[in-house]
Amino acid sequence: MNIADILRELTLGEKASLCSGEGSWDTKDLSRLNIPSIHMTDGPCGVRNQKRGQSKADPATCFPAPCLLACSFDPELLAMVGSAIGEECRAIGVHLLLAPGVNLKRSPLGGRNFEYFSEDPLLAGMCAAGYIRGVQTQGVGAVLKHFALNNQENWRLVSNSIVDEATMRELYLRPFEIAVKSAKPAAVMTSYNRVNGIYASEHSALLTGVLRDEWGYEGLVVSDWGAVNDRVAGLRAGMDFEMPGSAAVNDPRILKAVQTGELSSATLDTAVERILTLVERLSQSAPCTKQFDINAHHALARRAAAESVVLLENNGLLPLSKTPAIIGRLAEEPHFQGSGSAHVNPTEQDNFLAACHQAGLVPSYAPGWASGGHEAENPALLRQATELARNSESVVLFLGTEASDESEGFDRKDFQLSNAQQQLARAVIEANRNTVVVVQAGGVVDLACAEDASAILYAYLSGQAGGTALYDLIFGEVSPSGKLPETFPLRLEDTPCYDSFGLRDTFYTEKTAMGYRYYNAVNKNVRWPFGHGLTYSDFELKDVTAITQNASITVSGVLQNIGNTMAAQTVQVYASEPGTEVHALCGFIKLKLRPNEKRTFSVTFPYRQMAHWDEVAHCFALNTGNCHIQVGFSSRDIRHTCTLYCESWSGEQLSAALAPPETRTTNTRFHSNSTVQDLLDTDIGKMLFSKLSKELEEERKRGEIDDNFYHMYLAQIRQYPLRTFVLATHGKFTWHMLSKLLALLDEPSPDMNEAATLLQTIRVI
Ligand code: BGC
Repeated sequence: MNIADILRELTLGEKASLCSGEGSWDTKDLSRLNIPSIHMTDGPCGVRNQKRGQSKADPATCFPAPCLLACSFDPELLAMVGSAIGEECRAIGVHLLLAPGVNLKRSPLGGRNFEYFSEDPLLAGMCAAGYIRGVQTQGVGAVLKHFALNNQENWRLVSNSIVDEATMRELYLRPFEIAVKSAKPAAVMTSYNRVNGIYASEHSALLTGVLRDEWGYEGLVVSDWGAVNDRVAGLRAGMDFEMPGSAAVNDPRILKAVQTGELSSATLDTAVERILTLVERLSQSAPCTKQFDINAHHALARRAAAESVVLLENNGLLPLSKTPAIIGRLAEEPHFQGSGSAHVNPTEQDNFLAACHQAGLVPSYAPGWASGGHEAENPALLRQATELARNSESVVLFLGTEASDESEGFDRKDFQLSNAQQQLARAVIEANRNTVVVVQAGGVVDLACAEDASAILYAYLSGQAGGTALYDLIFGEVSPSGKLPETFPLRLEDTPCYDSFGLRDTFYTEKTAMGYRYYNAVNKNVRWPFGHGLTYSDFELKDVTAITQNASITVSGVLQNIGNTMAAQTVQVYASEPGTEVHALCGFIKLKLRPNEKRTFSVTFPYRQMAHWDEVAHCFALNTGNCHIQVGFSSRDIRHTCTLYCESWSGEQLSAALAPPETRTTNTRFHSNSTVQDLLDTDIGKMLFSKLSKELEEERKRGEIDDNFYHMYLAQIRQYPLRTFVLATHGKFTWHMLSKLLALLDEPSPDMNEAATLLQTIRVI
């Protein structure tokens, strides 16, 4: 029976009932009409599938938290993590993953900052889009949350975000818009809070006006758990599905509203149709019973962490070549994930100390503080640690927040480390300047106490493989390449929302002057700027040019690794609208280059990235005049500037044009029309050919193709140009993955694990 027929068959009571869940994690089934139920559970760090009565969730890979993944500035890496999480969903029996969250980090105190990506809407939107694309390639639905203006946890069930339209459009709605338009999440979750007085779960201007009518969203809208204020008002506003189930309370309310005409039956039908459409789509593709590859996913978690951790300072001490002393309990009991609905039961758990032992090192170790809480000062342990530091050649000192410091439901009170840790840091660094500080925290912490350290690595919450990833970075197996997705201010009082953050009625008086947009506009000193992150190499940016055509700007140039180490660098493009001084991130590209290697790149972005919201005309608009473009390695490390004259642009055309920037690189040896045969003298080419021919052989064994077809396909494999894999996999193997593969093919000793991960999605056509 198709959905139109089912709708005709359903009674009013059944329709009302389908509009909310069965318990906390399922939609309702209806055997009379063969409607199955689908199962959902939380992300974003991994799959948290906790069954009723079970004290722990099913084991799943705990990947780095979004706060760290965002530092990779690599949406394709997020897609790979998303795809692995999607695979785990299928194995565990989850159809719909309640992730990712894309709310902006308005204050360093945000309790859920560890679950969110950035203070910048473009970076947050692109990370979310990558993650969603990855999850959904597995036939699992992703849920984009929490729509909208949910930037604090205090008072979250009743707080009121009071914000003008331009600020909403230019900043807070943008990451949602990018993710919705470019990745089409299966569902969008409304937030708990109110927006300008109206609950997000019944905000028709947002749920219907913006999300559906303007952005063309066709999926399901689901409430956050318990976020429904007035169910009927919610349905009228476009909030289709209530979670968790509330049958006894809201079903009769919906029935009565339809009977009295308060709610039209057409509106109810639309909600039910959306629910049934999603159930039909997802119940067909998941779950599968195939076990996921625990080791491969652990390895991906390690790689994702290593490509994301941020090297904030380095006076040349890193990478280490000799065994350091290790201080700080987090070296053996890492703080690698946050609390609340994002908490995962990991399949394995690395730690840095064990990683050193596995590698044959025998470091001296002092815990630095007593177990069971970072707060308690312990003079004996402090003395022991300081002594160890004094008598060692170098030290790796672990600092961080506690798991209970960062969670949903409340915001942090300050951004200081505990007194015990500050004291420890000062004493250890004074005793030995050759100290590398490693920080594990879900958000920004004040590191004044580590000012004199030789090096600082910011690991955020690095997931279950964080310990080995840190080993890779500290001993130079991998060069750090993460970039900060948020500003580290000098003092909390410097943050532009200092006076209004965390209140029940929170006025966004700083408007769009948030994060680096504010600090740069007023030229305020910060500890580390947005986009900052060092590597073990040096890079030069040359021949930078910018052109404009078709209401978009293309910035091109050449990036060269002029150091001695293979490393990745992220070229960041910031632009200011004509007539304004505020530069905003408009595009970026991350390139991994071996020593001396250079590569041309281009970043193309639509005018819309720098346009302002015209409150009178109610659309995006761009002023006429000179637009200033900055290209560099952080928001404050600008290597080139260009000026371009742009004609004004406004209205519908511009509003519709928000698309993530496109990036390109030029490679020397191979290109998208190189065939599998052309690649056969490389290890990657051999790996690709062997993978494809093995899969073909398996198809023959399963009887899916006969001998004739087998020989025909086998002959054809060699002739496929690489570009065909993008189309043949329906975009699972993306253009960006293709350019990464081409870059790897150019390398003399490419990372074969990286190649294997890229080739994973390629199939025989
Ligand atoms: C959180 C959501 C989560 C839901 C289900 C809520 O409290 O805000 O992010 O998906 O619970 O656990």
